[in-house]
Amino acid sequence: MTRGKFIAFEGGEGMGKSTQARLLCDNLEARGIETVLTREPGGTPGAEAIRELLLHPPGEGWAAEAEALLFAAARADHVSNLIRPALEQGKWVICDRFVDSSRAYQGSAGALGDDKVRKLHEIGSGGLLPDLTIVIAADESVVGERLRARDGDASDAIGGRDQEYHARVNAAFDAFVREEPQRFGRIEGMGSIEEVQARVERVVERLFQQVDR
Ligand code: TYD
Repeated sequence: MTRGKFIAFEGGEGMGKSTQARLLCDNLEARGIETVLTREPGGTPGAEAIRELLLHPPGEGWAAEAEALLFAAARADHVSNLIRPALEQGKWVICDRFVDSSRAYQGSAGALGDDKVRKLHEIGSGGLLPDLTIVIAADESVVGERLRARDGDASDAIGGRDQEYHARVNAAFDAFVREEPQRFGRIEGMGSIEEVQARVERVVERLFQQVDR
């Protein structure tokens, strides 16, 4: 059984990741590839329970270290109970956010540092990395408008952080793409859903070239 491919979507808030992840899943299924669509934090009952704790913290909120540990714990459960088994069965997995979100949000914007986040990922998930990580980039002012339309005043504990925090998140994703261009595909999030979808599909072709080789 050939192992399936693992694709993650990443980016700051309101970049249209979830829509594009769903469209790519439909497209792969139409090509006859069994595909699992999932998200982080979450994807398994245990990880979804942790998601609730992260996005709506009881009490005064988590310290930076506790927050990073909770994301890593949710990911460990998701990887061992859903992602690895699906890949081993030859299915492709599309994940709306993965470890690069922890690197950008907790490691960079939250100032914990990349080494600690990578260590937690090594302990929790054996350091599993996607075969391809698609970063959807968009203009921050436009994204701000989209988010206000989507969330109003109801943003969660992380989405509701100030603009400076989110600017650091976006800068971190840009830096990751520059540092490891072979692992990432950065696409412009501006334009219609169909235009962005076409850009996603162009990047995903890379994986088919690897499969055919
Ligand atoms: P979600 O509603 O899924 O956000 P979005 O629609 O923007 O993807 O909430 C996930 C939030 O958690 C989002 O603000 C990003 C944050 N996050 C981290 O800070 N670290 C992580 O490792 C992950 C996976 C998400």
